[in-house]
Amino acid sequence: MLRIDIITIFPGMFSAVLGESILKRAQEKKLVDFRVHDLREFSKDPHRKVDDRPFGGGPGMVMTPQPLVDAVRKVRGRRKAHVIYMCPGGAPLTQKRARELAVKRNLIILCGHYEGIDERVREMVVDESISIGDYVLTGGEVPAMVVADCVARLVPGVVGKGESLEEESFEGGLLEYPHYTRPANFCGKRVPPVLLSGNHQAVKKWRMAQSVERTQKMRPDLLDKSAGCGARSG
Ligand SMILES: C[S@@+](CC[C@H](N)C(=O)[O-])C[C@H]1O[C@@H](n2cnc3c(N)ncnc32)[C@H](O)[C@@H]1O
Repeated sequence: MLRIDIITIFPGMFSAVLGESILKRAQEKKLVDFRVHDLREFSKDPHRKVDDRPFGGGPGMVMTPQPLVDAVRKVRGRRKAHVIYMCPGGAPLTQKRARELAVKRNLIILCGHYEGIDERVREMVVDESISIGDYVLTGGEVPAMVVADCVARLVPGVVGKGESLEEESFEGGLLEYPHYTRPANFCGKRVPPVLLSGNHQAVKKWRMAQSVERTQKMRPDLLDKSAGCGARSG
């Protein structure tokens, strides 16, 4: 079972995301164990403060090291855990990295706020900083949910057999092909005839061509990256 501990000053934000749909079922099936911790519980400040003014001056507040370091140490206990700090300046989250994280047993995710965390926290307890994109959010909670979701769905058994993980976008360096369902004719727009042909080989070939075309159009950078390192072949 994969255990994901999340350390945050807003634990209430997680109940909707972790308590519905596939992530809820993953916990019921004991495939993933999510635990959300209130950072303020670890603060030694009489007012449960977790932030302070930055040394050197400047705007905003910085998350103090004591609650974060104590929280990680307490939550980790004797377990070996991989500690992730959600950070706009971290390594970009990719499907490849999500796959690597999904085979770990224990992840601890730290959600930052304000200007971020005291740098010494990284040095003392953080193994990896991850960004969910080149933009800045108000806090690390939404990024932590993104990591928890995309990693948990890669744990075997979390996503049903009906949904193929292998053919999805990014898995072979390509975006996924377009999907169609009933009706075959919607407002005069018809489903591509090959999909109604019953010819599985032809469908496979069409889907591969569509994947390549869509990737070329929407994300040519993915083709550059996969050139020479075995992009999905049809
Ligand atoms: C307002 S941001 C801090 C931004 C920081 N001062 C900077 O310029 O990099 C507050 C927190 O939100 C989270 N956060 C914001 N954007 C993020 C992103 N793109 N990826 C991951 N975490 C993010 C981080 O935990 C961060 O500590």
